Amino acid sequence: MVEFPEGFVWGAATSGPQTEGNFHKQHQNVFDYWFATEPEQFDAGVGPDTASNFYNDYDHDLALMAQAGVRSLRTSIQWTRLIDDFETASLNADGVAFYNHMIDSMLAHHITPYINLHHFDLPVALYDKYHGWESKHVVELFVKFAEQCFKLFGDRVDHWYTFNEPKVVVDGQYLYGWHYPQAINGPKAVQVAYNMNLASAKTVARFHELCVRPEQQIGIILNLTPAYAASDDPADLAAAEFAELWSNNLFLDPAVLGHFPEKLVERLTVDGVLWDATPTELAIIAANPVDCLGVNYYHPFRVQRPDISPKSLQPWMPDIYFKEYDMPGRMMNVDRGWEIYPQAMTDIARNIQENYGNIPWMISENGMGVAGEERFLDKQGVVQDNYRIDFMKEHLTALAKGIAAGSNCQGYFVWSGIDCWSWNHAYHNRYGLIRNDIHTQTKTLKKSAKWFAELGERNGF
Ligand code: BG6
Repeated sequence: MVEFPEGFVWGAATSGPQTEGNFHKQHQNVFDYWFATEPEQFDAGVGPDTASNFYNDYDHDLALMAQAGVRSLRTSIQWTRLIDDFETASLNADGVAFYNHMIDSMLAHHITPYINLHHFDLPVALYDKYHGWESKHVVELFVKFAEQCFKLFGDRVDHWYTFNEPKVVVDGQYLYGWHYPQAINGPKAVQVAYNMNLASAKTVARFHELCVRPEQQIGIILNLTPAYAASDDPADLAAAEFAELWSNNLFLDPAVLGHFPEKLVERLTVDGVLWDATPTELAIIAANPVDCLGVNYYHPFRVQRPDISPKSLQPWMPDIYFKEYDMPGRMMNVDRGWEIYPQAMTDIARNIQENYGNIPWMISENGMGVAGEERFLDKQGVVQDNYRIDFMKEHLTALAKGIAAGSNCQGYFVWSGIDCWSWNHAYHNRYGLIRNDIHTQTKTLKKSAKWFAELGERNGF
């Protein structure tokens, strides 16, 4: 039996842009705009306009999630839905009404809301006008939006997050071209990383002024990808050391410890690409660590020495220091192209315990995306997703080891409750405990939903 501590939180995670659909939404975020202009960039030409129809179906969806044992739900408020004028953060009445109904419905279904404020969904107008997160003005506008959220919903919401996976914004929008505007510009990416750290700290500061009940907490959600060296060769070890700093510590350290990792700052300084920061801003980051941490874990990062010389890559890219290593024999989720390595859960737990002062943390996303799940429908129309149950069991077993060793992990949120729209991959891979037939928007519990409900009841398996 694998058991979890009393009070352990069992939940599911999702986001506004991936579920709501764009009904009655005033503004476009970068993904809405990208889909409108280049639909061929999205799997099967499917965009976010309908998503899983959560805007219309939220009450029914939440009832189903409650049946699946989802007792806490992490989703996000869309900046582009709540706000009419981004400069003044004036409110959109439909947006306010929707999120009020959504939160009330969660509470009515005994589902605790965990609200995140940004899930890759920058308003495209702020990209056009200010180049998005490259601009410190956008940092200020984000804090104004966050303030509105705290004032409107802080009476009912105790658990908040500033950002989901800011590193994916850095990588996707500025380094590797996965996300709109598909820029490939290392120095700008460095500034974006800094600005998002600053925005998070300023939001934490404002939260603590506005949300003062002792149970109210704010954190940041980071996708941690522990870096493992390809070998003990010093060149591979050095590559893994930099990859860890760049991929994980870049956000983890300022958010939790209040300062950037020294070795990373030194390296960026020597390379002439360090961010533009003022002493006042650094003092704000130092004074406003998060109360708690969300960790999204899907896969590790296997690294080897790079095969390009620093001089050959101009302008600067972090890839001058490491290269991904395709370790022979590693177990892959072939549909998603990600390695499956549950052991990293124990390693993450140990890392947080040893280096981050016992901060309370949760697994805020973990899950398995699988293509063509119709193959696994039984005669009753239930997806027999044993692979997803096995995936969760293996990851939870590794997590439980970390907790037994003293790591302060307080919950596990599966990605996701209901199959949802997944950025460029649209509906190719399904992650839900609940199947969504996107043609009819019919939602039915998968086998894993029943298993997840039992997991929560027993607090283990
Ligand atoms: C996380 C994101 O990175 O991974 C989610 O927070 C995303 O938004 C999830 O959907 C799974 O990744 P993907 O690309 O398969 O949807």
